[in-house]
Amino acid sequence: MQPFAALLAATLVLAPTAQALAEATPIHVRKTNGCGCCLAWMEHLEENGFAPRGENMFAGLLVRYKLDNGVPQRMVSCHTAEIEGYIVEGHAPAADIRRLLDERPDALGLAVPDMPLGSPGMDQGRRTEAYDVFLIRNDGTTEIFASYPG
Ligand code: CU
Ligand code: CU
Repeated sequence: MQPFAALLAATLVLAPTAQALAEATPIHVRKTNGCGCCLAWMEHLEENGFAPRGENMFAGLLVRYKLDNGVPQRMVSCHTAEIEGYIVEGHAPAADIRRLLDERPDALGLAVPDMPLGSPGMDQGRRTEAYDVFLIRNDGTTEIFASYPG
């Protein structure tokens, strides 16, 4: 029994690490080539348990992709991500994406329009501004999902 107990103990010690890796949630990020803030946002996701994969598109095609997939024009930002059937437009914090996946509202997804300073991936400088994370309903209407002070 002794070796088995040791093996079991080793397995229990190793388990959390393996589990954490397995649990990184895949997220597909459509963006334009050379967009630094998109990469910075993907880094933020990676640090918070997501496994982002980037796909570069021509700017015109990316805009068409957004609109074709129901992102209202006023909600448009730089990148458009897809995760478990939801769209995430722009620099949304990882915590809000996690909440979206937990609550699973009947909606298209989340959006942070434009590129507010201080949002994840846009936090290079010292200036920050207040911004909202919006929930996009399936009919294109939006409501505030989370608010961040400047
Ligand atoms: Cu950006
Ligand atoms: Cu971006």
